[in-house]
Amino acid sequence: MTVHIGAKPGEIAETVLMPGDPYRAKWAAETFLDNAKLVNEVRGMFGFTGTWNGHPVTIQGSGMGMPSLSIYANELLKDFGAKTLIRIGSCGGMQAKVKIRDVIIAMTATSVSTPSLEIFREVNFAPSADWSLLSAAVEAAKTKNVATHVGGIYSSDVFYDERPDLTEQMTRHGILGVEMEAAELYILAARYGARALAVLTVSDHLQTGEALPSEDREQSFGDMVDIALHAAFPS
Ligand code: HPA
Repeated sequence: MTVHIGAKPGEIAETVLMPGDPYRAKWAAETFLDNAKLVNEVRGMFGFTGTWNGHPVTIQGSGMGMPSLSIYANELLKDFGAKTLIRIGSCGGMQAKVKIRDVIIAMTATSVSTPSLEIFREVNFAPSADWSLLSAAVEAAKTKNVATHVGGIYSSDVFYDERPDLTEQMTRHGILGVEMEAAELYILAARYGARALAVLTVSDHLQTGEALPSEDREQSFGDMVDIALHAAFPS
């Protein structure tokens, strides 16, 4: 047990999927895992452990934003011995070619700031995905009927952004989408010698203003979870 994760020793798998929303953790565990058991409910941030194709997997909510994710990822890596963390979440599309419901596999995560800023100080560390996970996710996505983009994303500290000029520069520099967690996840995985990846579903679009209707979300999010599981355990 840690301050924020009530699981007993051995109840967290080495492979952890991390949605921002604890209710999405519950849905994904019930939909994809066999024998899913609730292992954490501290602060309502549900974690479930079960198996997928016989492999132990935990699905633990991260909350929204890098400070929240940092708490859960630190405890999973440092105290529970997690070795592979895959974020499954939503993002806003930032390129015309990126459409609602598409999947983005995040190779790198640019940010203005992360909770690790005080460590790096003058250094612009480049948070990047684990190659073995990234390449396996790309292979898994090819078997699905979902448009997939691989490239850089932007991990923002704000959802209600007051800097349209920043969004414009990100788009100009080819950033595919914006979310709020991946950069710190990649940094923490690097720090602890673990593997990390973010697989994202485009839920809204910054240029078109479109947003995914809530009834459509399950199917789209399902593809993303399936890609993440195949990335962790390629056949
Ligand atoms: N901004 C930041 N995070 C997000 C967005 C967005 O537009 N959509 C989903 N997560």
